[in-house]
Amino acid sequence: MGKQTSTSAPEERSATAKYAGGFPQTFGDFKDQFVTAENPTPQSIPPPKYGDQGIIGEKHVLIMVGLPARGKTHMAKRLCQYLRFFHGANTRVFNVGEYRRRDAGVGQTADYFTKENEEQRMKFARAALKDMIDFLFQEDSMSFLEQRGVDSGRVAIFDATNSTRERRRWLIEQIGTLPLKVLFIESICTDEAVVEKNVRMAKINNCDYSGVMTEEQAFKDFMQRVRNYEKEYEPMGSDDEVDLSFIKLIDCGRRVEFNRVHGFLLGRVAQFLSNMHATTCSIYLSRHGQSEYNSHGKIGGDSGLTPMGEAYAQKLAEFADRVITRDPENGEARPVRLWTSSLQRTKLTARHLKHDKVKTGGGKDWIQMAPRVLRNLDEIYAGVCDGMTYEEIRAAYPREYELRRQNKLSYRYPRGESYLDVIARLDPLVQELESYREDVLIVGHQGVLRLIYAYFAGLDRDEAATLSIPLNTVIKLTPRTHDCIEERVLLHDPSENQEPIDPPSY
Ligand code: F6P
Repeated sequence: MGKQTSTSAPEERSATAKYAGGFPQTFGDFKDQFVTAENPTPQSIPPPKYGDQGIIGEKHVLIMVGLPARGKTHMAKRLCQYLRFFHGANTRVFNVGEYRRRDAGVGQTADYFTKENEEQRMKFARAALKDMIDFLFQEDSMSFLEQRGVDSGRVAIFDATNSTRERRRWLIEQIGTLPLKVLFIESICTDEAVVEKNVRMAKINNCDYSGVMTEEQAFKDFMQRVRNYEKEYEPMGSDDEVDLSFIKLIDCGRRVEFNRVHGFLLGRVAQFLSNMHATTCSIYLSRHGQSEYNSHGKIGGDSGLTPMGEAYAQKLAEFADRVITRDPENGEARPVRLWTSSLQRTKLTARHLKHDKVKTGGGKDWIQMAPRVLRNLDEIYAGVCDGMTYEEIRAAYPREYELRRQNKLSYRYPRGESYLDVIARLDPLVQELESYREDVLIVGHQGVLRLIYAYFAGLDRDEAATLSIPLNTVIKLTPRTHDCIEERVLLHDPSENQEPIDPPSY
């Protein structure tokens, strides 16, 4: 077949030069950028910023079900962050308790939560439901360009006990005819000791009680609140509910039941919830020690460590032996996992870590930090720019340099990756991390660790690509229901020996 010739007008042919000084604002503008004589009708959809495959334009409501202190709010919040970060879904939690505290004030005691007082409490559920429907159906505030870049729809999580059939029937009456998919998520815990632990950890210091009662009074009152709900509680799955979609999580994921769970997003929700649990774990993030390429300001590659990188590797091993692998209460060894990427700079950084045998809580032998090498942890691949300095990229590919500066998250290096591509390959790893009950040390790379950090710290993915993850530093993250505790330890200070510091990234 002969080479096709273009019939485009001269103005179109010069369109590539048109946006040298500014980023396009509309889809039409964006398209113009790619119009050339050889390709007059290009496919020029920008990389998806808000979306992912399979959930395009759909709306979902996830309704939590269960007695108080069953970890519903914890699940709702983590799920919200997961769907936002990994699937670009515009997700929001509507917590009925927050409406109650806002409208009725704090300090409600157990008798407020009896059957007799239900009508009083229904008004908070109605207010939350109204806001939820507004959120789901409000005019899209996204620009045309962003929508064209794939609108992944919205997800609302309705967080309340919803523990009677009557309440659930009411919810279905309110939203059942709207164009959305509904999934109930029920958390069941039959172990009284776990419930009491949850109450002590998460409830007695919350704003319902702080400053109102002593801790012991608050504990007793909350347990009475649980008893009041127990009297009316009807678990899901009776004959009149078998047509509903629901997931039952029994005893922190020991057993999971699915009923009519279909579709991409609900499949991801089911998988996420089956992995997550309530045990608080920490994740230690460390970049590899300084690499040869780092010292020359080159990106990517697969170089070894400099002497400074090697010094850090040794300090990391000492720190792991002294701190990471020790129980902070009694100093005894405790099981910790280790992940590295497949690139040699992370494996070299991890090579001095000790692999002693320790006992797990269940009495089994555990090889401390047995190395697990994961290709999905490899650094963002810079394609044709791999091995260049930022200055060299700017000189050789000024347009690419500018486009990346304009939108670092969705910019994809020619023949390489974007941060959004890396997010997609980190999804399975994060599911795995959520399932672990031991702390994990990840020896990784700047780009990849930015994303893992942002996800666990509860940040938006738009903020992730420019976060600071310095060399020579261990970052400890301990995610909790409402926040994430962060500690940073500088293990090797390059300024002490006037060693070169990490060049800035662009
Ligand atoms: O410079 C170190 C490095 O890990 C490079 O290999 C990688 O391309 C870069 O950081 C990622 O950071 P940025 O996305 O800011 O260029």
